[in-house]
Amino acid sequence: MKGTPLTDHTCEYIVSNFASDERVLLQRMSARAQAAGIPMIMIAEEQAKFVKVFLRAIKAKRVLDVGTLFGYSAAIMSQAIGADGEVVSLEFNPEHAEVAKENLAEAGIGNVKVITGPALDAMKSMKDNIFDFVLIDADKVNYVNYLRESLRLVRPGGVIAGDNALALGKIATEVEPDDSDFVSVTALQEFNRAITAEPSLFSILAPIGDGMVIGVVQK
Ligand SMILES: C[S@@+](CC[C@H](N)C(=O)[O-])C[C@H]1O[C@@H](n2cnc3c(N)ncnc32)[C@H](O)[C@@H]1O
Repeated sequence: MKGTPLTDHTCEYIVSNFASDERVLLQRMSARAQAAGIPMIMIAEEQAKFVKVFLRAIKAKRVLDVGTLFGYSAAIMSQAIGADGEVVSLEFNPEHAEVAKENLAEAGIGNVKVITGPALDAMKSMKDNIFDFVLIDADKVNYVNYLRESLRLVRPGGVIAGDNALALGKIATEVEPDDSDFVSVTALQEFNRAITAEPSLFSILAPIGDGMVIGVVQK
């Protein structure tokens, strides 16, 4: 075993010491989402802080959030870039988009534009090099398509991130077709392969939350 295994206790240490603000925000936003029956499939609190640190490091001002859910990742990215930046957040499900808008308004966040509809269509309609950072966290079967569009949309020196890169611990296994996660796991395996094969990306899979791939764009 290399590195230190992450126990629940250690994870709690990380969140309570480094991501307490992200925990409070999640508690507030998830209350409305749970009341609306929206699943709790957002990024983890420590991932939220990890993304914020990255955004600050690259001085990001324009960010694309692929998969809004109830607005948590959009909110944390808005906080990291400041009120003079903009987050564009893409969500297929109108009920999720509505709850996200209510959550963002309640949190006093005014610089997130939520676009309702298929994320790929929205991305295809956007101009080149307009974002500093993209977080891919929607339907797994489209991850490779989102990557392709992100490579066009992110400026040189910007960053592309993808959540669930560990596929709930199944990423390094050969999943059987009768496994209920077969489609998503194989899509994530294809995504990770595409990232590592992409010459314009300098990347790593960070074992944080369900795994986050981070790649710097070197065009
Ligand atoms: C894992 S959740 C996103 C979580 C969010 N990034 C966060 O951490 O707060 C995935 C979201 O993507 C949305 N989604 C699924 N397929 C989509 C598509 N084709 N286009 C846009 N959104 C999609 C789902 O409805 C869901 O709300």
